[in-house]
Formats: sequence, C-alpha cells, structure tokens
Amino acid sequence: MEKYEYNDLESRLSTVKGFSDLTPQEELDALVTRMRPHLRNVIGVTIGKGGVGKTTLAANLAYTLAEEQDRRSSAGKSPRPILYIELDSNGNSRNDFGIRGGEFDDNGISFYDAVTDDRPLSIVKNVRPFLDVVPSGASNADISGRVDKVSAEHGPAAFLLLALLLVQISHLYQWIIIDFSPSDKNNQRLGLAASTHLVAPVKGSDDGVLEGLGSLARLVRGVRVINPEVSIAAIGFLGFKKVKGEPTSELVNLREKIELLVANARLDPEVVISAYVREAPVLAALCRNTGMPAKELALAASGKLADPNTGVLVPRPRDENDRLVEPQRATDLADDYTHFAAAVLHQIRRRNKQLRGEA
Ligand SMILES: Nc1ncnc2c1ncn2[C@@H]1O[C@H](COP(=O)(O)OP(=O)(O)OP(=O)(O)O)[C@@H](O)[C@H]1O
Ligand SMILES: [Mg+2]
Repeated sequence: MEKYEYNDLESRLSTVKGFSDLTPQEELDALVTRMRPHLRNVIGVTIGKGGVGKTTLAANLAYTLAEEQDRRSSAGKSPRPILYIELDSNGNSRNDFGIRGGEFDDNGISFYDAVTDDRPLSIVKNVRPFLDVVPSGASNADISGRVDKVSAEHGPAAFLLLALLLVQISHLYQWIIIDFSPSDKNNQRLGLAASTHLVAPVKGSDDGVLEGLGSLARLVRGVRVINPEVSIAAIGFLGFKKVKGEPTSELVNLREKIELLVANARLDPEVVISAYVREAPVLAALCRNTGMPAKELALAASGKLADPNTGVLVPRPRDENDRLVEPQRATDLADDYTHFAAAVLHQIRRRNKQLRGEA
C-alpha cells in the first residue's frame, strides 16, 4: 500500500470556466460527446436513499473486480487495477478497506482539492492487489458548496469537474467504482455526470425503496444535458433471507413491484438482476469492523488468510459474543458477492456494446 499522486493533470476548472449562460448549447454538447467514450468504465453505486448497503456493495464489487485482475495477472494476461472513490463524507469505505485513521487517511481533503481546485489527485495504491482507493471523509461534504459557486457562474458544466478529472486517468483502470452520497445533491450530480452505469442496491422492502429509485430516476433525468449516457445498469437486492438457496416471499413480492416500476420507466427488464446478497447483519458488521471485504472474512474464518506484510495467518475472526465465525456462512456471503458482481458486469458489458453501436 502506498500513496500516489496524479499530478500532471490538465486543468478542469479552466474548461468549466469557458462556459457561461451565453455559451451555445452545442459547445457543451461537443465537450460531453468527446468525454463520454472515456468514461464507459465508470460505475456509480447509488440509490436516492441512505443506509441501504451502497458502500458495502461498492467495496465488495471493487474487491471482486480487483481479484479478477489478480487472476488475469497470474495467468500472464495484462491486468488493469480498479479505482474506488467514495463521495459520501461519512467515509465508511475507509473502514471497509481497513484504512480509517491510518497514515493514508486524509479525511478526503486531497479529493476535495482535486475536484474543486485543480490540485493533484491523491490515491492509495494497492490497498489490495489491483485495487486503488481515493480516501474519503469529512472534506467531501465541502465539495458541494464550492461546486454551487462554480455552477452559479458557469452553469451545468460545473458538474463535470469530477468527470473531467476521471477522463484523464480512466484508461489506467479496468473499472472505476463511485460510491455515492445519498443526501448531497451536488455530489450526486458530480457522480452522475462521471458515471456511465449505475448499480442500485435495494435493502429493505418499505416504500422508501421505491421512493429512492424514483428520486434516482429524477436525478438521472436532471443530468441528461451533461451526461446523456448514464442509466441504471443493474438493480440488485441486499440483505434478504435465503432459505435453502431460495428467496422468501418478501423478496419475491418486492422484486415484482420493482419490475413493474422498471417496465413503466421503459428500462430493460434485465436490469433487475436475480443474484442477491443474503441477510447477514453480524457478518456485515464484522467485515466493516475488521476492515475485511466478505471474501477476506471467509478466508480468515477458514484459517486461510495471510497478512500481506508478514505472511503470517490472520487469527480466525470471532463475533461480538466471542464465537468463531462459521466458515461456511462467511463463504456463502462471499459467494453471493461474487455472483452479484458477475451479474452486474454482464449487464454493463451488454450496455457498453450498445453504446459502442455493436449490439
Ligand atoms: N448482507 C447484509 N445483511 C444485513 N445487513 C447488511 C448486509 N450488508 C450490509 N449490511 C448493513 O447495512 C448497513 C448499511 O450499509 P452501508 O453503510 O454499506 O450502506 P450505505 O448505503 O453506504 O449507507 P450510507 O448512506 O450511510 O453511506 C450497515 O450497517 C451494514 O452492516
Ligand atoms: Mg455509504
């Protein structure tokens, strides 16, 4: 793990400052058209709702995609790392990757500087093999006010600040995962302008879930002018009971409701993926508290996880009642993320083919 800075990036602010209310729409369209093909590996994890598993899902998705690159590397194929960015100021991904409070945790200040002030983008390289992370934290909350000021003078182009940054490094990454903030509309716009594919986690079956999807659809419509390509690629379920490998009626009924919403919105019905992540609150909490993605927790529970620095096996994890984590349970949860990630990638690759005009 090491700190790395992208410090030869072109100015994003000077591009944005070239726009005003008087700029013909065609100029903004032309900029967006030039940028879009370079952002088709950017995946936003979002739904207009808090506490629904965005960070848990995004972190495990990033980990799974990075593992795939690690396997490619072992097979002698050319790998490219994954970049993970969290927009939320709670910075929970720092816990999920075990970097909170450590030497690389800058509370999001360098990300804030990079997005709002043309400063270098600082990342933590190799948080895991082939996984780079942009540290997040309290400073992410300050991005919104700065972007507000820029947009007051330069209009919607202000929301391209993150996209203009990612365009310059996206070729270095296989996938860039953006974990969204549920409440901060400006941060959401920045994320939506940069993403091509959205993955929406659904956790719980109250009406808030449907409202969350509705508010996401409205936000997507609202950024059309700066991103005509962004769309929901996958809606997936997290934290639902699995009994003998099957979903219960709670999920079956909810899925029907969401399929109806998707049909009414004229979205591809296949965005509602059938893979889902089972309910496992104790394991989810342990993952966050120990800084281990589900796959690592499963390896640790089986006594097979070695510390990358020392090579020594990590002690088998215990729950808050001091009971050893059951290896099979942890493996089942990890497998859910693997299947979920495969279903998400299938959808995204299909969409990318359509966007490239190949399907
Ligand atoms: N499979 C699961 N089963 C049950 N609970 C889970 C599961 N996965 C995650 N959780 C729990 O869901 C809660 C919310 O998760 P998370 O922080 O990932 O959501 P979020 O959408 O990123 O939240 P926020 O909007 O606050 O950033 C956490 O307490 C987490 O432990
Ligand atoms: Mg979160």
